[in-house]
Amino acid sequence: MPPTAPASVLAYCRPGFEGECAQELASHDVELGGAGHARAARGSGYVEFVSPAADALGSTWRGLVFARQLLRVLGSARALPPRDRLSVLLPMVEGDARRWCDAWVEAPDSDAARELAPLCRGLNSALVAALKKQHLIDRASPWRLHVCMTATDAAYVAAARVDATAPWPGGIPRLKFPRGAPSRSTLKLEEALLTLLDADERERCLKAGMRAVDLGAAPGGWTWQLVARSLHVTAVDNGPMDAGLLASGLVDHLRADGFRYQPPKPVDWLVCDMVEQPRKVSQRMAEWLAQAWCRHAVFNLKLPMKKRWDEVQACFALLREACGERVELRAKQLYHDREEITVYARLR
Ligand SMILES: C[S@@+](CC[C@H](N)C(=O)[O-])C[C@H]1O[C@@H](n2cnc3c(N)ncnc32)[C@H](O)[C@@H]1O
Repeated sequence: MPPTAPASVLAYCRPGFEGECAQELASHDVELGGAGHARAARGSGYVEFVSPAADALGSTWRGLVFARQLLRVLGSARALPPRDRLSVLLPMVEGDARRWCDAWVEAPDSDAARELAPLCRGLNSALVAALKKQHLIDRASPWRLHVCMTATDAAYVAAARVDATAPWPGGIPRLKFPRGAPSRSTLKLEEALLTLLDADERERCLKAGMRAVDLGAAPGGWTWQLVARSLHVTAVDNGPMDAGLLASGLVDHLRADGFRYQPPKPVDWLVCDMVEQPRKVSQRMAEWLAQAWCRHAVFNLKLPMKKRWDEVQACFALLREACGERVELRAKQLYHDREEITVYARLR
């Protein structure tokens, strides 16, 4: 019998952040008693984490900051025959008892792997056709099949539970820049709301007529997202706000220091995109939440060049210390984030 490969998960991340992604997976793995290890190459846009706890680890995508997607590896192959890659990949699934609601062939987000996009598209159609022929596609299945091409002749085959993983190929929501929005930064808040809240929470927690404060608002990309949902926004920034937003009648522009501003009465939402030391931002967010000046907060934490995972943990510890069990924290390094992460915090 061929030796069985050790159990592992595959995480996609922003290229250059493989180390942080591996550290984070390791810390979850320790909690699960896994004692595993990472296989990662800098700039590759993915991390394989080998662990006896891979099955449990594979369901933790929502709680991870640096993983855009998290898959349970079924097998991997190198030296795939260029004319018939499926002849090697398909047998890895044929022995599996599951059926699949869909199958995605994708590549990591690295410069090198991006060139694999045309190959992925072609292979995707062939894979789905082959699975259909073998009656392995069942739209009601809770499982999705992934093939991650890491080179023209190398791939992972992996499984994802639809309800516990990112619903976008590559873990990247492809958002269209909204017409009329004043800055590209608008996509960051849109992605944050899409990624860090579920559909039910978005409906319940973002209602027309609610009040929000936007610290560091100019020119208004984040404010634009809130106004598009008919929220009233106090936009705090010494810089100029977009004229169209001001004309909406839903925005009050305050030229003030975002680190000193206090709302005259509590608001529903606080959003903050001020570029500052992450601990200084966290400290201010902690004050807002601890004083219950807002119920929900979305903010960016710009990460330092080194020890970025340590910095994230220090900021979370600071927030938890100030707010205790009352605060729930979720965070991701979004596709539209560069050297930063986006945090959603809410009072329970
Ligand atoms: C990255 S930009 C914000 C972009 C904005 N979110 C958008 O979508 O258009 C950062 C903004 O923070 C503002 N800022 C920085 N420090 C500030 C402070 N202490 N108080 C208020 N605004 C501040 C800057 O003036 C700048 O407009």
